[in-house]
Amino acid sequence: MADYINIGSVKIKRTAVLAPMAGVADRAYRLMCIKYGAAYVVSEMVSAKGICYSDRKTAELCTVTDSERPMAVQLFGNEPEFMEKAVDIVLEYKPDIIDINMGCPVPKVVNTGAGSAVMKNPKLAGELVAAAVKSAGNVPVTAKIRSGWDNNCINAVETAKYIEDAGAAAVAVHGRTREQFYGGTADLNVIKAVKNAVSIPVIGNGDVNSAQSCINMYNQTGCDLVMIGRGSYGNPFVFREINAYLNGENYSPPTLEEKMQVMLEHIRLILELSPKNEELAMHEARKHAAWYMNGYYGSAKFRGRCYQLDSYDEAERLAEEFVDLQRSRGN
Ligand SMILES: Cc1cc2nc3c(=O)[nH]c(=O)nc-3n(C[C@H](O)[C@H](O)[C@H](O)COP(=O)(O)O)c2cc1C
Repeated sequence: MADYINIGSVKIKRTAVLAPMAGVADRAYRLMCIKYGAAYVVSEMVSAKGICYSDRKTAELCTVTDSERPMAVQLFGNEPEFMEKAVDIVLEYKPDIIDINMGCPVPKVVNTGAGSAVMKNPKLAGELVAAAVKSAGNVPVTAKIRSGWDNNCINAVETAKYIEDAGAAAVAVHGRTREQFYGGTADLNVIKAVKNAVSIPVIGNGDVNSAQSCINMYNQTGCDLVMIGRGSYGNPFVFREINAYLNGENYSPPTLEEKMQVMLEHIRLILELSPKNEELAMHEARKHAAWYMNGYYGSAKFRGRCYQLDSYDEAERLAEEFVDLQRSRGN
């Protein structure tokens, strides 16, 4: 397996990359995943129309810091004119890649004709990419799709061909239909079919949460890169595990103490990067704290307590209590 792949002129280590996740994979989250080995990250989705109307929150989402590179800014929309203009604006933030969201299943996005609704009209998928490419200059444009809209419309291959013909530099495929949302299991055969149908790099996505499932994604689909979303919840270590495996190194999973230290580091980063006061920023941190505690004795109760955290000091005390509980159980 080659060590790197190129998306346009952007060189990416062929390990695993972080999926875009609105409301989850913000800057603090991306930096934590990069620290543990994510080879590439994508912003939370940004409305193409919103950026054209210079929505301030939208602009914040487009900011790319040097420590996050290589990083894509992801846009969603269904009107090629807005896509073209939005890319022009986004270029000011110097993203390494521009990605177009054609997979979001949420009604708020789909009802506007964007996200996975674009897959109902594969030709439009091509037009959106073409519009983005027109403005993007040397910056590569990619698209992220699902396997299709529903079981009666599995059209990832057709959509990916339109996307390739329009000048995209890569395509990411989440092996679920829109109808499935995040339920069931991802269909790796669809990803393999896309890989066999196009010559641009294909990024395989869906249900990867370990080195084993990552290798399985590479082997079963022949994809060029593997993308991880929910498998990184409270678990940036998944990238370390994959890197170790691919480098033929021994891997020791994090101890509970390490997990709690990394959880606290993640919370400090959220507080440092948030413009909000500590109490409000802690609201952002709560779900992350809860995820780091998953899978242990009593974690349901502790997760409930995470959702009441209002300060860093409380988080520190909760982490200590959690470690004490596990120790008392001999875990
Ligand atoms: C909370 C959440 C937010 C998401 N936001 C986005 C998004 O902004 N853009 C996008 O293309 N996909 C988004 N996704 C989909 C993920 O990128 C990914 O395709 C999906 O979770 C499947 O991968 P996984 O099984 O590794 O989680 C989101 C998923 C979740 C769970």
